[in-house]
Amino acid sequence: MKKTVTILMASLLTIIVGCASYEPLVSMRGADVASPDKAPAVMAYAGKRPGTQPVVARTFSTQPPVIPHAVDNFDEVTLTENQCMDCHGPANYVKKNSPKLGDSHFVAATKTFDASRHNCTQCHVPQVDAPPLVENRFTGNIK
Ligand code: HEC
Ligand code: HEC
Repeated sequence: MKKTVTILMASLLTIIVGCASYEPLVSMRGADVASPDKAPAVMAYAGKRPGTQPVVARTFSTQPPVIPHAVDNFDEVTLTENQCMDCHGPANYVKKNSPKLGDSHFVAATKTFDASRHNCTQCHVPQVDAPPLVENRFTGNIK
């Protein structure tokens, strides 16, 4: 019995001391852990009209190149519409003076467009000039 009381008292003391030195955790997103995410600030895409800037250097092999130009004026890619193909597709890229789709975007045997690549922005993303959230020392594997 006496031992139980001692253990209880010791536990209580630990809790009290623990609480006194308690400092709330500060999360990297600057909000309480349980609170919902703040909507990120809306930032303008860095690119301008297609045809007016160089492509962005790739940083690792197999990387889908990022989209260097603005995309704000293009309609979303839907099941039936794809404005990206108007410039990058095999029928138009020469006329539009645009980079051609990657070879991997075609079915090897038939040399026709691979429909699994229809949703371009699943892999290719436009860029904003935003400061990194955390320090990043990634240098890539392309020398
Ligand atoms: C009006 C023509 C046009 C349209 C529409 C267009 N692009 Fe482009 N795209 C270009 C041109 C021209 C470049 C060359 C760089 C530049 O001048 O912006 C380019 C560059 C790119 C690159 C970089 C290629 C590389 O080798 O680095 C990607 C990726 C790309 N576009 C994806 C897209 C996607 C995805 C869409 C649809 C959301 C799209 N583009 C719509 C003309 C266009
Ligand atoms: C599943 C991911 C994926 C999808 C979807 C996709 N791409 Fe790509 N794309 C890549 C990768 C990876 C590369 C790098 C070269 C390669 O693998 O062909 C690339 C390369 C390119 C290039 C540069 C070609 C070169 O190597 O010089 C252009 C332009 C491009 N894609 C446009 C598009 C457009 C337009 C669409 C939609 C019709 C699209 N891509 C859909 C992954 C994708």
